[in-house]
Amino acid sequence: MITDKKKIRESVAEDYARAVTATPAKSCCGTPIQKGVAAKLAGYSDDELAALPPEAVVNSFGCGNPLAYSEVRPGQVVLDLGSGAGIDLLLAARKVGPTGKAIGVDMTDEMIAKARENIAAAKLENVEVRKGIIEDLPVETGSVDWVISNCVINLSPEKERVFAEIARVLKPGGAMLVSDIVARDLPRELLENRQLYSSCLAGAISEEAYLEGLRKAGLTAVEVRERLVYDQTQIRAFVGSELKESAACCCGGSARNELAERWSTELAGKVWSAKVFARKPA
Ligand SMILES: C[S@@+](CC[C@H](N)C(=O)[O-])C[C@H]1O[C@@H](n2cnc3c(N)ncnc32)[C@H](O)[C@@H]1O
Repeated sequence: MITDKKKIRESVAEDYARAVTATPAKSCCGTPIQKGVAAKLAGYSDDELAALPPEAVVNSFGCGNPLAYSEVRPGQVVLDLGSGAGIDLLLAARKVGPTGKAIGVDMTDEMIAKARENIAAAKLENVEVRKGIIEDLPVETGSVDWVISNCVINLSPEKERVFAEIARVLKPGGAMLVSDIVARDLPRELLENRQLYSSCLAGAISEEAYLEGLRKAGLTAVEVRERLVYDQTQIRAFVGSELKESAACCCGGSARNELAERWSTELAGKVWSAKVFARKPA
């Protein structure tokens, strides 16, 4: 198990900085980097994707479409934890409209820069990105109607702190809808693999532990609204996607392929994307 919390965050930030700044020209593996794998698996509609700046879509690394399972309405304030290049942030800004607001928080400078470019390209004014960690949110207590997040909390080495922060920043009666990776019976060897941590696998906890963590933080009506259990092909796409490609370049593309092949067999059916809802009591 990887335990040093600060080092985990630094390593995750390095990997996502590399992933968002990678271009096909920089690919060392001889093949163009296939960005956008995540968005195709995540379940956005073609219309949603077509209405976004292409750089927001190709730089998405999520595992679902959290807003699709929420009841976000015009005029509300939405907070996106680990907003990345901004795919859900932009969709949220459009959903809440000019009388509402979308706020993103991310710790990786390169992701924040890309999100700000995408906000400018989308010509939206009701949206901002703040630098910070999701374990200590730069957000006022009781100030947001919805917390959303897409494939980020699994990356936190301090999930209890994140759950407590969600409960703190929500308005009474506010709600969260998070798409995240959960898993069962992960082999010890995988839990110690740094690349698979950044790939949203090695840091994943069980669904039961996730729901219990939210309840312990004081949230209620906790439920899973949808599950996508990954088969071998989908796990292979995850492990073999652009993040892992850039990270694996130093050890060669064949090492990446072996990693993807091996873990896709072992993990099929044991890892899923859960869309988790919870509410702060009114
Ligand atoms: C898997 S990507 C998801 C990005 C975005 N939500 C999406 O769907 O494309 C994870 C993002 O979370 C950020 N992140 C990971 N751990 C974080 C933490 N502890 N605090 C703040 N940001 C974090 C990373 O910098 C990265 O941008």
